[in-house]
Amino acid sequence: MELSVLLFLAVLMSLLLLLVKGRPKAREHLPPGPHPLPFLGNLLQMDRKGLLKSFLRLREKYGDVFTVYLGRRPVVILCGIQAIREALVDQAEDFSGRGKIAIVEPTFQGYGVVFANGDRWKALRRFSLATMRDFGMGKRSVEERIQEEAQCLVQELRKSKGALMDATFLLQSITSNIICSIVFGKRFHYEDQEFLKMLDLFYQSFSLISSLSSQLFELCSDFLKYFPGSHRQVYKNLQEISAFIGRSVEKHRATLDPSAPRDLIDAYLLRMEKEKSNPHSEFSQRNLILNTLSLFFAGTETSSTTLRYGFLLLLKYPHVTERVHKEIEQVIGTHRPPALDDRAKMPYTDAVIHEIQRFSDLLPIGLPHIVTKDTHFRGYIIPKNTEVFPILNSALRDPRYFEKPDVFNPDHFLDANGALKKNEAFIPFSLGKRICLGEGIARSELFLFFTTILQNFSLASPVAPEDIDLTPQESGMGKVPKKYQIRFLPR
Ligand code: HEM
Repeated sequence: MELSVLLFLAVLMSLLLLLVKGRPKAREHLPPGPHPLPFLGNLLQMDRKGLLKSFLRLREKYGDVFTVYLGRRPVVILCGIQAIREALVDQAEDFSGRGKIAIVEPTFQGYGVVFANGDRWKALRRFSLATMRDFGMGKRSVEERIQEEAQCLVQELRKSKGALMDATFLLQSITSNIICSIVFGKRFHYEDQEFLKMLDLFYQSFSLISSLSSQLFELCSDFLKYFPGSHRQVYKNLQEISAFIGRSVEKHRATLDPSAPRDLIDAYLLRMEKEKSNPHSEFSQRNLILNTLSLFFAGTETSSTTLRYGFLLLLKYPHVTERVHKEIEQVIGTHRPPALDDRAKMPYTDAVIHEIQRFSDLLPIGLPHIVTKDTHFRGYIIPKNTEVFPILNSALRDPRYFEKPDVFNPDHFLDANGALKKNEAFIPFSLGKRICLGEGIARSELFLFFTTILQNFSLASPVAPEDIDLTPQESGMGKVPKKYQIRFLPR
């Protein structure tokens, strides 16, 4: 018999053995789910439209909590606000670990606040929150910074004189400048070529991370990583941004004044110096670069993508936009910039922003968690380090909480008297110990940027509202709207 035939038979036999043996013992008590094949896991049960579609289909058969095998890795899927809350809030500590995202794993490798675990994560989260508070809420509050940035944007949009434009870069610039002023101690001009290059790299990377090919990569990265593909491009892009951060760190080092730290990087360098004799310190150069990259990326792409989806929705539903204009006229008028205090007096606008976030569904399958120890949950046992995906989409689009979940309708957040109605299934920032670290900044940005733009401009599109296409360009880890052209007409 030829060697190749022998090899083939050996592989076949091992596959059959694995099939017959079934689940390893430690995984016996995992929630139910489709039977996995060796190596391939549940690849055959996956929907061609991507992970979210696959999970929602499996939910119909297995309920709100089930196990699916992405390749060889078992992943516990949590659907619906009840299951997500029970895990991330009621058993917060157990579910507070972070899982990997295959396509960005070669870059982060467990460093930086988003992908760190254990003591490293605790140290970086505490440090990032405290310094963001110091450098954001200190002398000049985040509110003031956003107001200033919004005025810069108004000047820039006026220059367009109502011409058709793609606002992607501008919307990225304004959200990025808020996090840049906290992290790097400066904002960038909208024409700064190096800044624009970074924004383009973020945009391209977020689109690639959200693409179908990266979802396939998530299933078989052990094999696909040896071949060319979008994972290599994402790695290259993030390396280039890390190099930019590295150059900025060196400039900070050269001009550091220990008595007057100016921003998060200065604060980090001082902490590094203070802990230099501690061999267990988490304040390393690698964590500095990757923590900064995490905040820069998360602070830029999330709010700007939401703004971009928001303007598309406002173009599609002009009657909604008209009501927001009216509320701005009544509450703020034209002689002063919007302030955060106005929000409580503007329930309609607030409801529209909630609905934009609900509908745009930025991170439909959330970010992956892991359990930090063997965890008892709803009668199952989830072994330590097993991945858990909280499917945020299943809460944001739950028909038990939103009358018409697939329709954009600000009434979802308004009561019979027109007051803002809170909804417990509204969790775009997730829940629990890993809840978005930038939630406060993001909510302030969305309110102040939307209201300042609509105070100064009317929106127009060459496409009739009924023909505006809301289906996303990419929908995977993230949801990215299609690019579109818009006119900002001075009011
Ligand atoms: C509309 C805007 C935003 C949305 C919808 C959003 C959503 C999320 C979600 C769903 C998570 C994952 C939570 C989990 O693991 O369960 C997250 C994590 C995170 N977000 Fe945001 N985010 C937004 C804006 C921001 C901004 C502006 C910043 C930075 C200033 C930021 C920084 C972070 C960080 C650092 C984490 C990781 C937290 C950790 O692992 O401890 N986000 N965000």
